Amino acid sequence: MKTKIAPSILSADFSKMGEAIRKIELGGADLVHCDVMDGSFVEPITFGGQMVKNIRPVTKLELDVHLMIEHPKTQIKFFAEAGADIITVHYEACKKISDTYLEETLKLIRSYGIKCGAVVNPDVPVENIFPVFDICDMVLLMSVFPGYGGQKFIPEVLEKVKTARAYAVKTGRPDMDIEVDGGVTEENAAEIKAAGANVLVAGSAVFKSQNVSKTIAALKK
Ligand code: DX5
Ligand code: ZN
Repeated sequence: MKTKIAPSILSADFSKMGEAIRKIELGGADLVHCDVMDGSFVEPITFGGQMVKNIRPVTKLELDVHLMIEHPKTQIKFFAEAGADIITVHYEACKKISDTYLEETLKLIRSYGIKCGAVVNPDVPVENIFPVFDICDMVLLMSVFPGYGGQKFIPEVLEKVKTARAYAVKTGRPDMDIEVDGGVTEENAAEIKAAGANVLVAGSAVFKSQNVSKTIAALKK
């Protein structure tokens, strides 16, 4: 499967966002990963729909919006209307509300004609989101605890990636997008892909690089 790279703009300079996005697009990125944090589900606050709306005209790349927020259902409208191409929501935030909230939120995202995905934290079994795999265009496995860029990759997540890929194959979706987010580097990208991931988020690895196209090519290789 072809590997797609999704640089996280969390690691970009927010005062030069347009420039940063043009740079990663020219450098061969496949998606723009937008980390939305609410100061409650995770400690920091990053940005909301206005950022997505402002970057939409700057790039042709798909906007991959990762919602690290409580009550995600209430916010889907704003990100969908702002121009997101895919929105992912955390299992943990949904589970707190009700057993059906995750499925309802995924279906709401789809009702806007855009792609949806479920996310699990490093300490949550991927099996917990098996019941919604058939509604998801993508699943996202966190390889750090969400909240901050620049953390160290948690290697135990590799087993979960294998389990997720095996389940996708078993259920007739061998090409399903499986994304890994957190601590991805040129050094560990190969083993993450070998485990079955085909979408790699990379924040610091890309934005701290002196040569963005070289780094993106190395992550894909
Ligand atoms: C973590 C975010 C990640 C993060 C990735 O809460 O969801 O997308 O920015 O950054 P790096 O690649 O630096 O770990
Ligand atoms: Zn993310």
